[in-house]
This record gives sequence, structure tokens and C-alpha cells, in this order.
Amino acid sequence: MNKRPIIIDTDPGIDDAVAIAIALFSEELDVKLLTTVAGNVSLDKVTYNALRILKFFRKEVPVAKGADAPLIRPFTDASNVHGQSGMEGFDFEEPDDHLLLKENAVDAMRRVILESEEPVTLVPIAPLTNIALLLKTYPEVKENIREIVLMGGSASRGNKGVMSEFNVATDPEAAKIVFDCGLPLVMAGLDVGWKALVLPEDSAKLPQLGEVGRMAYCLFQKYRGGSMKTGLKMYDSCAIAYLLKPELYEMVETCVDVELSGSMTAGCTLVDLKGYLGKPNNAKVCMDIDQELFRKWFLESIARCI
Ligand code: BDR
Ligand code: CA
Repeated sequence: MNKRPIIIDTDPGIDDAVAIAIALFSEELDVKLLTTVAGNVSLDKVTYNALRILKFFRKEVPVAKGADAPLIRPFTDASNVHGQSGMEGFDFEEPDDHLLLKENAVDAMRRVILESEEPVTLVPIAPLTNIALLLKTYPEVKENIREIVLMGGSASRGNKGVMSEFNVATDPEAAKIVFDCGLPLVMAGLDVGWKALVLPEDSAKLPQLGEVGRMAYCLFQKYRGGSMKTGLKMYDSCAIAYLLKPELYEMVETCVDVELSGSMTAGCTLVDLKGYLGKPNNAKVCMDIDQELFRKWFLESIARCI
């Protein structure tokens, strides 16, 4: 079976690092490129983190640096959740820059997509700035994109604002471009992420599952996405889980729009389950997840890594 070609657009980020590991060590996915974007911490920090984890994983995947700020709005990070460096808690070796491309993220994505024999799946697990820039600058890439499977948005409440999730709320204008782009799109939102929990008994097993498990265990001590005691939220792994085990989810096909002008709700994803907006469907939304199966899948996936 051919491996499915994907590009991960990311802001590592502790949950990003774990999601990337699962994708890199899966037998079904071929990670062609990592692109970085300002999100959890600054662009320089997330790019450095991407290089650090690839060195640790001993994986030769090219990295391209993308946008250092949202399209229009000022940048605010999430270092309160992921620590000042974005990935505190583990002593990574210093990476060199040999995987860092000279091309920027948008040009690198264009090249990889157009060169690919098989349509590429984009997997954004960060603010959508790079993806919006790609689709607007090089619309011809759409011909060879299979689908966009993103972690972002929410069908209920938010984590950056009352109603807005961090990845969408950081760059709502970019998110709107992506949701409106006409490509098949899957949204794994915050509210399924709240249920994609790694419970204390799962965390306790991680150090025995190999080097990546040990790394995850150490990073999780510093991760503020939930709590070590009540469960850690594996937001970004939800997008990878959809690719590898879609049967974990209850899905609904619907219209998702992004609020841009609300004085308190900008960046809210309006998951229009009742057709109020009168717009055509543009997304499949993960509405629920089988928590037990997710935990099992997560531990098995980490055990498959080095
Ligand atoms: C998203 O925000 C980031 O902090 C996480 O990495 C995830 O991508 C959750 O809202
Ligand atoms: Ca992320």
C-alpha cells in the first residue's frame, strides 16, 4: 500500500510534538514536509523546536519556515500552556540546520504539492496563516490537494476567548480563507480535543514505551493542556487520529463559518448544525470521539515510535 502523502503545518508545542511523532512513525503516512508558523510561541522558537524533535526522532523531513504573525492581527502566543520555549521539560540535543529549507513555507508547500504523484493531504495543527497564504498565492495547488484535516475551531466553547479556539482565534481571517476554499475539509475541534484525554494511568505507562514515550512523559510534566491528574488533552493528535483511525469519531457534514467582526467573539467557528446561515456544507466536523478507543490508539501509536 502506498503511504498517504501529507504536509504538517505546525507550531510545536507539546501536543504538536507528540502528534508529529505519531505521524512520522506510522506505516500509513508519508510526512513530506513540516512547515512552521507563529502560534504557541514565536516563529523562531517553533522552527527550532521542529528541528529539535526531528533530530531526536532521527527523521530526515525537510522543514520550511512560514509566517511570523497572523495576516492582519497582532500576534499573541500560548506560552502559558506550553512554556516559554514552547517545549519545556525535556533535554533535547542541539539540532543543526541541515533540514531547514531556504524556501519559505508557502513556496515549499507549493513545490511539494505540485511534484507529488498522489494528491497531498494538508494537516494544519496551528494557526492557519501559512495555509491561507498558500491557497491565495498559488490557487493551482488545489488541483493536487486531497483534503485539509485540521485541528482548530470548536463546535462549543473556546480556549482563547469564550467562544474561540486558539488556532482559529489567533488568525481568524486566515481561517476563514481556509474554510471557504472549496476543498474537502475536516475539522477536529477543541471540544473533541477535550475528550481526547491521556489519563494518569496512561501517562504512567509512557516511559516504558520507548524514547518517544519517555520524551512525551517529560514534556507532559510541563504541559498545561489539562492536568496530569485529571487527563491531558491531545488536541493535535486528534487530526492525526482522523487520518489513521477515522472510526474513532462521530462526524457531521455541515457549514462552518468564522466570525471576524464580533467584538468579543472574533475567531469563533460557527458550526451551523441547523442551517441558519443558509450556506452550503463546507466541512466534516468531528462531533464526538470514543475516549476509550482513543486512549488505546494513542498508547499503541507511541509504542510504535522509537
Ligand atoms: C491548539 O492550540 C495549541 O496550543 C495546541 O497545540 C493546539 O494546536 C488547541 O487550541
Ligand atoms: Ca498546535
